[in-house]
Amino acid sequence: MGIGTGRFALSLAATGVAVEGIDASESMVAKLWEKPGGADIPVTMGDFADVGRPGPFDLVFVVFNTFYVLLEQAAQVRCFGNVAKRLKPDGAFVIEAFVPDLTRFQRNQSISVVWLDVDRASLDLSRHDPVAQQVTSQVVYLSDGSIDMRPIKLRYAWPSELDLMAQLAGMRLHARWSNWSRSPFDASSANHVSVYVRNDSTA
Ligand SMILES: C[S@@+](CC[C@H](N)C(=O)[O-])C[C@H]1O[C@@H](n2cnc3c(N)ncnc32)[C@H](O)[C@@H]1O
Repeated sequence: MGIGTGRFALSLAATGVAVEGIDASESMVAKLWEKPGGADIPVTMGDFADVGRPGPFDLVFVVFNTFYVLLEQAAQVRCFGNVAKRLKPDGAFVIEAFVPDLTRFQRNQSISVVWLDVDRASLDLSRHDPVAQQVTSQVVYLSDGSIDMRPIKLRYAWPSELDLMAQLAGMRLHARWSNWSRSPFDASSANHVSVYVRNDSTA
């Protein structure tokens, strides 16, 4: 879900696994299809909260915080339901995302230097809405007298909230690690890789 230009999908496809994708951006998918092997990956255009490939699938994954592009809790809940109905009985749903760190905000705002050089700089300007659990950011690039801005908007969810969304969809948490190397997940983990399975899974 949110296959984008295929950073993960192409590596997986190269191992011989049949991979399909969903994305909302024609330009991202055009880049995927330009890459070697990309044109072999079928992609459905649309919102991954609601649309899907028919399946059923052994694995559905959404990585690199992309689950948080769904800006409403209701959409995130629908997404879990959308996945649950397309998984094989022993299939898995994998989410890779950051663990929210609200200490980076003061009065629900943050400004940080992304990089700084003698002739260029980049700043991250963010506002936090603790009610909607949304963070609205502009990454600002300053160089050669010009300013470029890249907006980002996310709705973060707590790991426990994701687990509850899984329950609503008839799934349960099977495993959670802090990275792809399966390091233990604990209170100091900045990221998580969470694996959900259907309640009737034998896993
Ligand atoms: C940060 S990129 C990640 C791409 C890829 N998964 C990776 O890790 O390189 C997020 C992708 O999600 C897509 N996207 C954003 N909102 C979406 C939505 N509601 N439904 C489907 N795709 C969406 C964007 O077009 C973009 O390609």
